[in-house]
Amino acid sequence: MTLKKTATARANSNIALVKYWGKRDRALNLPEAGSLSVTLEGLTTTTTVSFGGERDALYLNGQLAPEPALRKALRVIELIRNRAQLRQPVRIESSNSFPTGAGLASSASGIAALTVAAARAAGLALPKTELSAIARVGSGSACRSIWGGFVEWLPGSRADGTDSFAQQVCSEEFWDLRVLVAVVADKAKAMGSTEGMLHTQATSPFHPAFIASTVRDLDEARAALLKRDFRRLGRVARRSSLRMHADMMAADPPIIYFQPETLEVISLALSLEREHELFFTIDAGPNVKLFCTPTVEPHVMAALETLPCVQRIITARPGRGAEVVEA
Ligand code: PMV
Repeated sequence: MTLKKTATARANSNIALVKYWGKRDRALNLPEAGSLSVTLEGLTTTTTVSFGGERDALYLNGQLAPEPALRKALRVIELIRNRAQLRQPVRIESSNSFPTGAGLASSASGIAALTVAAARAAGLALPKTELSAIARVGSGSACRSIWGGFVEWLPGSRADGTDSFAQQVCSEEFWDLRVLVAVVADKAKAMGSTEGMLHTQATSPFHPAFIASTVRDLDEARAALLKRDFRRLGRVARRSSLRMHADMMAADPPIIYFQPETLEVISLALSLEREHELFFTIDAGPNVKLFCTPTVEPHVMAALETLPCVQRIITARPGRGAEVVEA
């Protein structure tokens, strides 16, 4: 009898407070600078990995996934198969708790859940830093979703990437914050993050300045976080996000993820900020994410609901790291 090698894991997505935009190595997803994120309960992927069967296959929300998604998943699976000296094909079934096609990054939660499920299914007991380095090869930002709470991704300096993984700065219990995702567009993005980063690095004259400011922002954001200094953390997070977008816009031809609706939400956030503890951040897409304290949440929610361009509001809070739920 052959043992059924299967396991299920859950992972939450994460949103960067200090952004990662630039690779020192494309194949290994090694970043030019460190980054800092919050893992978010409410944006969750559940993935079952089984070794066995006839060929490698990936199902996303019950549908056979397109080739590029399978190729990305196989980057992680290959590393796991090599470590465990397994040769069997893999079957991956993955589903998201949040609406797919909402322009929300599912690769961080998806690749983190895949890594943890695959390692367990293959019989490997790996420390979280190693799981993080493996997840990184599938998708850079996924290395941060291995941990819960507030997480820093170390850029490392080695060419083989063994010193570039994420570690927890403080747990999800450390600070009760709320994140409201104002969904204004649900189309798939025009340019993926890998292509966007490489193009920005190659053509934006602002890029070296962005990386230099990221290194400073990371120190300041970590210090503000550890003191629970909301205003200071918010200032750093806001400028890190806007400088990343300025860098992309300065690429030639430009990369513009903003839509007119993005600016509507930004201007609402800037006016709310005058009275309330609130800040915004935007990733490689048009949707704005608003951070606030729990008491401020109803005000932000009510204000967002007045904007006709906001199609949906998803709420999240600091959440747990990736974990096996069934093996
Ligand atoms: O690792 P990727 O390919 O998901 O890129 C993430 C890029 C941003 O979301 C824009 C920034 C970040 O640090 O998450």
